[in-house]
Amino acid sequence: MSVQQGTRAAANTLSAAQVRTHPWCGPLDRAPQRYRGPHRLSAGGWQSFVDRLERREEMAVVRAALTGNRRVLDVGGGTGEITRAVAGDLGRCVTVEPHVNRVERLRLGVGGTDGGELEVHPGRAEALPFADGSFDAVFSAWVLPYVDDLVRAVREIARVCDPTHGEAKVVLIGGSPDNELVALLNEVCVPIAGESHDHQGYLLATAAQTLSEHGFGRFSLSRTEAALHFTEPSLAERIRSAADLLVNFWYDGHPRAADMREALVPALGRHFARRPHAIGDQGLVLVARPGESA
Ligand SMILES: C[S@@+](CC[C@H](N)C(=O)[O-])C[C@H]1O[C@@H](n2cnc3c(N)ncnc32)[C@H](O)[C@@H]1O
Repeated sequence: MSVQQGTRAAANTLSAAQVRTHPWCGPLDRAPQRYRGPHRLSAGGWQSFVDRLERREEMAVVRAALTGNRRVLDVGGGTGEITRAVAGDLGRCVTVEPHVNRVERLRLGVGGTDGGELEVHPGRAEALPFADGSFDAVFSAWVLPYVDDLVRAVREIARVCDPTHGEAKVVLIGGSPDNELVALLNEVCVPIAGESHDHQGYLLATAAQTLSEHGFGRFSLSRTEAALHFTEPSLAERIRSAADLLVNFWYDGHPRAADMREALVPALGRHFARRPHAIGDQGLVLVARPGESA
């Protein structure tokens, strides 16, 4: 099955082993042996990314997954787009975020409140400041590539989720293997930086393994479409904006940032010839529930 084929949701309950070998956690032949370590996400890079991002479908999948929950934690809330939407739906949402400016923005309600109450804690996934089983659902969107210790972060997420609650679940979001943004970074920037290939599926598969070892062993996967939009009329402008955005996202201040921008020009030219005004940020939503898959 290719990544785009089949349904948007893998309907069956999967085991951690089935998540690891699922094509949506691919490319399976490029899976690394260990975590490559965190990407550096710059403050400006994330903000210009969010300003162009349209991810209605991803938000809808997360909100639908959390319908039956009440005590919900968002790990790595960022600028709070999903946190606020969930708080609006459920009345309240707690978030943990390490970045000082983002914590401040969340506390000040920058971006609105969507009618719900936000409880904001400074902190990191690897050491969540909550007692065991404090929440009936924990979600974390696009955070795993930035943590220092992947297994410890996921273990903490499992620890604070109460497995005895009827609607207990952990919801993690990362990139699907056809993610166009990650593909461009892997093709152009990662080799110039001399880093190892970014493999989003490895992060979710490793998370699934860790969750299953801590009582959350029944999984489902959904693929979502999201995209960054480039509305500039001229192709040259779109290429320039996209090259800046991609480099600033993971390689802001990198000594070879100028080489990356230059090398992105032909790759973005080829990309915009196929898809003139957008770069896809296709996601994968992993939902883990307590128990073991049959
Ligand atoms: C790509 S942003 C995603 C933000 C938000 N979840 C969203 O989807 O809009 C990643 C976020 O993870 C946060 N982060 C980085 N390291 C973290 C860690 N160890 N624990 C928790 N959050 C972390 C960053 O500060 C940033 O806000």
